[in-house]
Amino acid sequence: MNYTEKLHELTEEKFSHIPLVNVQTFGCVQNENDSEKIRGILAQSGFGISDSFENSDVVIFNTCAIRENAELKIFGNIGKLKALKAENPDMIVAVCGCMVMQPHIVAKIKKSYPFVDIVFGVNSIEELPYIVYNWYASNKRQISDPVVKTDIVEDIPVYRQSRSKATISIMYGCDNFCSYCIVPYVRGRERSRKPENILREFRQLVSEGYKDITLLGQNVDSYGKNLDPQIDFADLLSMLCKVEGDYVLHFMSSHPKDITRKVIDTIRDNPKVSRQIHLPVQSGSNRILSLMNRRYTVEQYKDIISYAKEQIPDVGFSSDIIVGFPGETYEEYLETEKLVKEMNFTQLFTFIYSKRNGTKAASLEDNVSHREKSEWLNRLIKIQQDIFFKYLESFEGKTVRALVEETKPQGYSARMANTLVVHFKTDKKDLMDSFVNLKITGKKGTVLTAELLQ
Ligand code: 5AD
Ligand code: SF4
Repeated sequence: MNYTEKLHELTEEKFSHIPLVNVQTFGCVQNENDSEKIRGILAQSGFGISDSFENSDVVIFNTCAIRENAELKIFGNIGKLKALKAENPDMIVAVCGCMVMQPHIVAKIKKSYPFVDIVFGVNSIEELPYIVYNWYASNKRQISDPVVKTDIVEDIPVYRQSRSKATISIMYGCDNFCSYCIVPYVRGRERSRKPENILREFRQLVSEGYKDITLLGQNVDSYGKNLDPQIDFADLLSMLCKVEGDYVLHFMSSHPKDITRKVIDTIRDNPKVSRQIHLPVQSGSNRILSLMNRRYTVEQYKDIISYAKEQIPDVGFSSDIIVGFPGETYEEYLETEKLVKEMNFTQLFTFIYSKRNGTKAASLEDNVSHREKSEWLNRLIKIQQDIFFKYLESFEGKTVRALVEETKPQGYSARMANTLVVHFKTDKKDLMDSFVNLKITGKKGTVLTAELLQ
C-alpha cells in the first residue's frame, strides 16, 4: 500500500468528518501552481479543500523568499496560528516552499516556532502523504532540512479551483544567477519537462474546457536546453498551438537575454498566443544591469521590443524594475525613469532591492538610503500610473474579447488576454468561464467598463 492510501485509511479511522486542508499561497504563480499540486495530492489522500484556516485540520503556508518583506509577512501570518494551535493541538501547521529552502529560516522555525509541525521543501510535494502520515503516526515534528532536488516528478494530481484558467509548469529552477536573486539557490538548477508530458497536460486542459492557459518557468526562453531530441521554446509554442480549441496561451517569464526572434515570429504566426509579453528589464542603466548579471544592455532590450512591435503591431509588454540596487546612483535611477517613460509598458511591477543572504549582491556595499529608494519607487509608480491610464483610455470605443472570471452585482467581471479587467452589466446567466465580446464604454478606477455585444 502506498502512503496516499495509508494516509487515507488513517484519516478515515481518526476523524469522524472529512478532514480539511487549507493551503495559503504567498509569492508568484509558480507557488500558486505548487499549491494546486499540494491540494491535489491531499485531496487524493482523503482531505477536503477549505478556503479558511478556521476549522481546518491541516494548514499549509506555501512561502516565498524573493524579498525580505515577503518573509516578514509570512512569519506574521504563521504567528497568528499559535493561539489556534494551542486550542486545537491536533491541527497540523505546515510550512513549505521557497522560504524554507534556506537553512537559517528552518533553524528559526525549529527554535522560535515550536507550534509548526511540518516543514518541507519546494520539490518534496509528492512526499506529503508520507510526511503527514508520519506526523499522525508519531506525533513528532517533521522538519526536513532543505535539499535542492534535481529530478522532475510527473503525474502529481492537481486540484484546480478555476474552471477556465490554468497554469502548466514547463520547467523548474533557474541557472541565471542574477546577482540579487535567491531563486537559483532555493529552486535549484534549471530542468525542462519533456514536451510530450506538457502536451498531454495541455490537451487534457483544453478538452476540459480551460480557456486561459499559462506556461510557467523562471526563464521560459531557455526551455529545452539538455532535452533530447532538441526542442526550444518556440518549437514548444508551435506544437501546443496545433491543439484545436478555443483558448489563449500565455507564458511567463521571458528573459531579455534569451528571447529570440524565432519566439517573436512564432507568436506572430500563432494567434492563439497572447500578444502580451512579460519581459523584466530590472534597470535602465547598463552599469547596474551588468552588476545584476543580467547579460543584456538597454540597447539590446529595446531592439527585441522594436522587432516585436514591427512583427506584431498589437503586442504589449509588461516589466519588472528593481530600484536601489547596491551602489545605484541617482543618475542611474534617472536612466531607469527615462526607459520607463519611453517604453510605455502596459504594466510595471516595481520593487525596492532587498538583500538576500547568499547571493552575490549581498556582499556589495549598499549605500543608498531607504528613504531615497522609497522616493524612487514612488516616482516610478506615479509615472507608470499616468501611462496606464492613457493605455486604458486607448480602449474606449473598441470591441474586445474577454474571459468572464467573476460575477458582480447585475453583471460580470472579465479579463482580456492583455490582463486588463472589464466590468459589464447584463441579466444573462451562465456567462461564467466563457469568452464574451464587449464594447468598451469607459473606465472606472483601474478597470474598464463595457457593454455586452450579442
Ligand atoms: N529584491 C527586490 N526585487 C527582487 N526581485 C527578485 N529578487 C529581488 C530582490 N532581491 C524581483 C525582480 C524579479 C521579480 C520576480 O522580483 O524584479 O523579476
Ligand atoms: Fe531570479 Fe534572474 Fe532566475 Fe529570474 S532569471 S528567477 S530574476 S535568477
